[in-house]
Amino acid sequence: MSGAGPPGDEWAARAAELRASVDYHNDRYHRLDDPEIPDAEYDVLVRELRAIEADHPELAVPGSPTGVVGATLSTQFTPVRHRVPMMSLDNAFSAEELEAWAGRLAKQIPPSAALVCELKIDGLALSITYLDGRFERAVTRGDGRTGEDVTANVATIAAIPDRLDSAVGPAPAVLEVRGEVYMPIAAFEELNRRQLDAGEKPFVNPRNSAAGSLRQKDPSVTAHRALSFWAYQIGEWHVEGGPEGWPTTSHEGTLAWLEQAGLPVSPERRVVSGFEEALTFCRHWEARRHDLGYEIDGVVIKVDDLTLQGVLGATARAPRWAIAYKFPPEERTTRLAAIEVSIGRTGKATPFAVLEPVFVGGSTVSLATLHNADQVQAKDVRPGDTVIVRKAGDVIPEVVGPVRGGGGRRGAPWTFPTVCPSCHGPLVRLEGESDTFCTNLDCPGQRVQRIAHFASRSAMDIDGLGEQRVELLVRHRRLADVSDLYRFDAATFDGLEGFAALSVANLLAAIDASRQRPLHRLLIGLGIRHLGQVGSLALARARGTMDAIASAAEVDLAVVDGVGPVIAASVVAWFASEVNRGVVDRLGAAGVSMVEPGAGGGTGGEAAGTGPDHQQRLTGRSVVVTGTLEGYSREAAEEAIRVRGGTSPGSVSGKTWALVVGDAPGASKVRKAEQLGVPIVEGARFDELLERGEIPEAG
Ligand code: IVH
Repeated sequence: MSGAGPPGDEWAARAAELRASVDYHNDRYHRLDDPEIPDAEYDVLVRELRAIEADHPELAVPGSPTGVVGATLSTQFTPVRHRVPMMSLDNAFSAEELEAWAGRLAKQIPPSAALVCELKIDGLALSITYLDGRFERAVTRGDGRTGEDVTANVATIAAIPDRLDSAVGPAPAVLEVRGEVYMPIAAFEELNRRQLDAGEKPFVNPRNSAAGSLRQKDPSVTAHRALSFWAYQIGEWHVEGGPEGWPTTSHEGTLAWLEQAGLPVSPERRVVSGFEEALTFCRHWEARRHDLGYEIDGVVIKVDDLTLQGVLGATARAPRWAIAYKFPPEERTTRLAAIEVSIGRTGKATPFAVLEPVFVGGSTVSLATLHNADQVQAKDVRPGDTVIVRKAGDVIPEVVGPVRGGGGRRGAPWTFPTVCPSCHGPLVRLEGESDTFCTNLDCPGQRVQRIAHFASRSAMDIDGLGEQRVELLVRHRRLADVSDLYRFDAATFDGLEGFAALSVANLLAAIDASRQRPLHRLLIGLGIRHLGQVGSLALARARGTMDAIASAAEVDLAVVDGVGPVIAASVVAWFASEVNRGVVDRLGAAGVSMVEPGAGGGTGGEAAGTGPDHQQRLTGRSVVVTGTLEGYSREAAEEAIRVRGGTSPGSVSGKTWALVVGDAPGASKVRKAEQLGVPIVEGARFDELLERGEIPEAG
């Protein structure tokens, strides 16, 4: 990265990179219902992008994900345009941020203006239209402007009335009710029991299973999924011949009206006055979120007076009159039964915790990664310990550390195994590296992971070819590398358990269909080091064909937007291997597509205009990072400092401006900073340091 042109270019490059990755994660979350990173990590990406666009308005581009609410639509349902766009909410992650929001309000509306506090239901936004009081249509949020028609499925949800109750008087000609579809926790657990009994993959959390259930082709499937609904807003409304305007002037009045009309409205809401009372409501539910039968991920606070809402207005994506106070990640304790090691497709040996199952953050956790040997040591977790488990965001479980002072004698510290659990070859850790590897390329464990990765959803998407089946096929020597898949026929499965005739036919059809995947999916599937989804797409679009990538010089790959020197070098090294080229040749000969449809060639878009220097808030400052920062890899943290003009060396000296201390920090760095009087910043305040270019005050 160093010396890569004027700083403005780096901003543009970082913004492009962030946009690509936010788009990607949006797609996984909204279209595929299969998020890959915790919500908290996603929020960090969006915040950084938003901060860059705010500081460098010239870099904001139309269609940036910061201006878009949801994501791409699937083709399964008819698209419907929302007459009134469905917006998103801005988030507050701390009391300070909530107070800042209240402070902004107070500049435009009376400080005593009433606020309504509601629970933030962790489900999916839905728009339901009633015509003359009759249920007519239900549409998902989609990208905020256009959603998907899920009427037939929503019609099966018992909580949603077919008709509005006449107790509210004559029905409006048009009434659009908005709210959240969710799956109660009991229904979620029951569903997962059924999934497991049927040999299907369980859902990760209630939100995900609600999304999957709502988007079924067959409404009778939705009908068996026990979905429910809380209404929280009115979208379009229109009263023909009735009173002018909506019959109430407040948000609470609207909710009460909806309740009277027979719609489910959560009783856990409160009209308060002022920030302090709103914060009390937030803290109350933060502590009691598990008393509810459904998942919430925060509290939504709205200005009550509809006229004042109009005065405050909205930005392109969210109203200014509302904010979501997001709860921090959740923690639970359980017993650490064992620490085991798994072998990845690159041979990386990752220790993981085998836990006594515990329900945390909306799902039952029995395994959690421990990342590497240093992390196990730093956290000092030992088999037999009672440990704290946290859901970072809402997806990935993490072992925080042992519960201290529990009395009882602890087991011996865990030591990293010296041989691979799969091939029994040696495990190697290079000097200065944090990861340990099995270096045997023939290791069956690696082979299985490589092939399963090739078949996975984000790569070649071969339905029915999961890790277990790959393992079986590799063990029985029917499968050695990915090109073998395309030589499969019915006889391949002779004598193997778990392959009935129908499932063989389906699998062969799925393998055949994968021949048509675009080049970028094939590139993802090949598992080239450093080349992830974003880089694969950039390369495929820029060069168009496999040949054009395989024969390119390193410099020509490195200039592609979203690629850079590290990926370029890795791609060139990969194609230099005869074994790898052989696999690609065999794939090509088997009729696997090697082109990216619609790719124009070239190096990708030019960087947008450059930003002036003074916006580089860390220019000339040296910020040292130690330990793990939530939401950042080490590289990402250093990058975030560098793009702001700072440097991030590996050690503390008299020139260090600040030491940022994350989880499991290096004790010597902290001691040195204390000795030298270097300001120490908690990891949780890193974002603040980046955003303000100042040392956050302690506490
Ligand atoms: S109000 C214009 N109220 O949170 C604002 N949203 O992060 C409309 N959500 O899209 C949203 N509970 O899907 C509102 N009580 C509540 C909510 C709520 C959950 C969801 C909703 C929204 C998302 C924004």
